[in-house]
Amino acid sequence: MILRPAEFQPWSHGGSHVPETITITDDRTGKTVTVPIEGGVFPSSALRELDPSLYMYDPAYLSTAATQSQITYLDGTNGVLRYRGYPIEQLAEHSTYLEVAYLLVNGELPTAAELTTWTDDVTHHTFIHENMRKRFVDGFHYDAHPMGMFVSAVAALGTFYDGAKDIEDPAARKHQTLRLIAKSPTIAAMCYRFSVGLPFNQPDNDLSYAANFLNMMWKIGDYEVDPALERAMDILFILHADHEQNCGTTAMRVIGSSHADPYSSAAGAASALYGPRHGGANEAVIRMLTEIGSIENVPAFVESVKKGEGRLMGFGHRVYKNYDPRATIIKKAAYDVFEVTGKSPLLDIALKLEETALEDPYFVDRKLYPNVDFYSGLIYQALKFPVEMFTVLFAIPRMSGWLAHWEELLDEGQKISRPRQWYTGADERDYTPIANR
Ligand code: ACO
Repeated sequence: MILRPAEFQPWSHGGSHVPETITITDDRTGKTVTVPIEGGVFPSSALRELDPSLYMYDPAYLSTAATQSQITYLDGTNGVLRYRGYPIEQLAEHSTYLEVAYLLVNGELPTAAELTTWTDDVTHHTFIHENMRKRFVDGFHYDAHPMGMFVSAVAALGTFYDGAKDIEDPAARKHQTLRLIAKSPTIAAMCYRFSVGLPFNQPDNDLSYAANFLNMMWKIGDYEVDPALERAMDILFILHADHEQNCGTTAMRVIGSSHADPYSSAAGAASALYGPRHGGANEAVIRMLTEIGSIENVPAFVESVKKGEGRLMGFGHRVYKNYDPRATIIKKAAYDVFEVTGKSPLLDIALKLEETALEDPYFVDRKLYPNVDFYSGLIYQALKFPVEMFTVLFAIPRMSGWLAHWEELLDEGQKISRPRQWYTGADERDYTPIANR
């Protein structure tokens, strides 16, 4: 919608009235449009008003808001993260992952009765069809990467449910959402147990979401989940549940916009998460810390990063240009875990690396701070997860965020995602016979 100047509501700025608008002039024609700025955003359709053949060039969406959303608020400059308005710090302190998942997919915190029903529903959807394990998972090579298995298993799961493609029906959508959130830990644990040749543990309905996952992962003979580790796992799940329009969530929305079923869309989102610049970074952090080997090697490593010989994994973020608030909470959780498990030998290297980088103008000038992945890998390692499982641990809780965005996209009836391109290839030319090339 393009508003004309007279219709604009002026806003007060320090006593003076400044219209919250932007005016764009096409210097080729002298044509002008003025459009409102709302929440720091203006509709790019203004450009098309000037000239329908004009497009904005914005590779990697550096300055494009691809959607409106009511799920997660993120202020990268001030290090703020809120789910549905609730600060991440409060959720991490007072809530549980299942309550947060409910909040994300339904928009409000549950009442006590709603939480009981939701917990019961999730708990009773944790089992997976036997053929998923016997016919599907058993087909993987013995040393398959668990994240590769997870991605494929999520897509395959959709083929077990008739209603998976019934995305126009809100009740069917809710059912798939419940299944995906409930079965993600089961799939994750199954992929791990297969990759190390251990028999699969069935879900235990008497346990919490986090404890059930840890039990499926580790139970051999007698095993009891330590409550401190169960809580740490749950906090990690809360912190990873959503992060607005990141690479994986954007993949979910783009695929979902074609009306693919949620299992296929979530498998695409998980594939995006798999990359080392996204959810794969925590795995890369541990490899990096192991490679550095000792505190004495930290300065030389930092120098090599500055020379462009690699990146400091777990540092930097597309949106946070200040400390990632999740990293602060995770750093504290790491110490709580180390109380039970003993300190990770890599912790001192991580602390030295953080200290060195935060004092170095290269990182300061580029506003590169530790992100969520810098310390999460150390916790996962202390909990005895192999590095190959780290991204899977991220994918389990992110499932609720992906599904919340998928639901929002369908509710709003968004069109199919279809960006345009700036063609810079060859002009028309005649086919050259192979003998003449
Ligand atoms: N180490 C060293 N230099 C870095 C780093 C890093 N981790 N991150 C960015 N830079 C530098 C770049 O080289 C670039 O420098 P230049 O301006 O001299 O060319 C500048 O900082 C800007 O970097 P971009 O790549 O343009 O920043 P972008 O916003 O595209 O990238 C990203 C963000 C991908 C997260 C990046 O910081 C990175 O690769 N970090 C390491 C991987 C990582 O930890 N990823 C996890 C992110 S959190 C998550 O996905 C859950």
